[in-house]
Amino acid sequence: MRKPMILVIPGSTRTGSMNRKLAYETVAALEAAGAEAVLADLRDYPLPLYDGDQEAEQGRPAEAQKLKDLARRADGFVIASPEYNGSYPAVLKNAIDWISRPDPDERHLAVFRDKVAGVVSATPGPHGGARVRKHLSDLLGMISVQVVEQLGVPHSAEAFDGAGHLARQHDVAGLRQFASSVAQAAAAKMAA
Ligand code: FNR
Repeated sequence: MRKPMILVIPGSTRTGSMNRKLAYETVAALEAAGAEAVLADLRDYPLPLYDGDQEAEQGRPAEAQKLKDLARRADGFVIASPEYNGSYPAVLKNAIDWISRPDPDERHLAVFRDKVAGVVSATPGPHGGARVRKHLSDLLGMISVQVVEQLGVPHSAEAFDGAGHLARQHDVAGLRQFASSVAQAAAAKMAA
């Protein structure tokens, strides 16, 4: 049987983003757990703010189509998101809004429906993005994706070494467990 494919999306486009580092660490952990992991960096998929008139007149932007094609191929998702004012960044929500739009003959939310996800968040404070993980879980639930695992990485300024790898043993162990759960849940969905 083929490996489950997990699409990993960092919610920050910032050059030094802690959550992008966490996303790359998650890709490695997912691969170690037996999954295929593909990282989609939203910096590589620049999108206009969703506008229904633009969609009606010009259709889906090419970058949104590429992201949607990746989401269709995915068996599961990992979102690695910063917390902005207690929630997720607009760039992430905008990308999800664009790819949630159906093709004319496509079932509503077909690229998301009945898939699984994990949510991770790195924040400079002590809570590791507990609020954004709650908001993201609600959002993913709305689009018929089941969140099976969450992980917070608090005090993110001290969490990564100079090579961008997780520096604290409990974060490494937590991410290993997280990735294993997501990979197993995606594989179980494929087998069902
Ligand atoms: C933040 N930050 C932040 N942090 C937090 O723990 N809770 C919050 O509500 C917010 N709110 C917030 C709003 C906005 C507009 C910005 C730009 C930042 C700080 C944020 O966690 C920090 O900048 C992270 O380092 C951003 O993630 P990346 O870019 O490093 O992945």
